[in-house]
Amino acid sequence: MAERTLAIIKPDAVKKNAAGGIIAMIQDAGFKVLAMKQTRLTPAQAGEFYAVHKERPFYGELVNFMCSGAVIPIALEKDNAVADYRALIGATDPAEAADGTIRKKYASSKGENAVHGSDSVENGRIEIGFFFSESEIAANVA
Ligand code: CMP
Repeated sequence: MAERTLAIIKPDAVKKNAAGGIIAMIQDAGFKVLAMKQTRLTPAQAGEFYAVHKERPFYGELVNFMCSGAVIPIALEKDNAVADYRALIGATDPAEAADGTIRKKYASSKGENAVHGSDSVENGRIEIGFFFSESEIAANVA
C-alpha cells in the first residue's frame, strides 16, 4: 500500500555536498518525491521536531546539530515507504549500517548521521506536516 514518510538530509550531509548523491539513492530505490525544500531550523523548531527525545541525554546535542546548518526535508511516497526508507538509510550508528545504505556511505557518527527517517506512518504524517503545507504536497500528487 502507498505510504508516505519524511526524509531529512541533515546539516552534516548538506555541508559535504552529499545531497545530490543521497537524493539519487532515494529516487533509484523507487521513492517518489512529493515535496522538497532547503531550509534552516531554529532551536525552537528543532526542539519541537525532536520533542519525543526530550528526556534523552543526547537531546541538547541533537537540537544544536540540527540547527548548525541547512537541512533538506523531503516528503516521500512509495509502497511500504516507512520500512523501505528505514532499510535504505541503515542503522542509526553508521558503524552498524549495512553496505549499500545511505548512512554507511555518508554518515560519520550516531549523532551526525546524514539523514532522518520517520519511524511510523503516523509520525510520517505529523513530520511531513511540520515542514509542508497540504497544497505543497497536493501540487505533486498525480
Ligand atoms: P534520527 O533518525 O533523526 O532520530 C533521532 C536522532 O537522535 C537520531 O537520528 C540520531 O541523529 C540522534 N541520536 C540517537 N542516538 C544518539 C546518540 N547516542 N548520540 C547522539 N545522537 C543520537
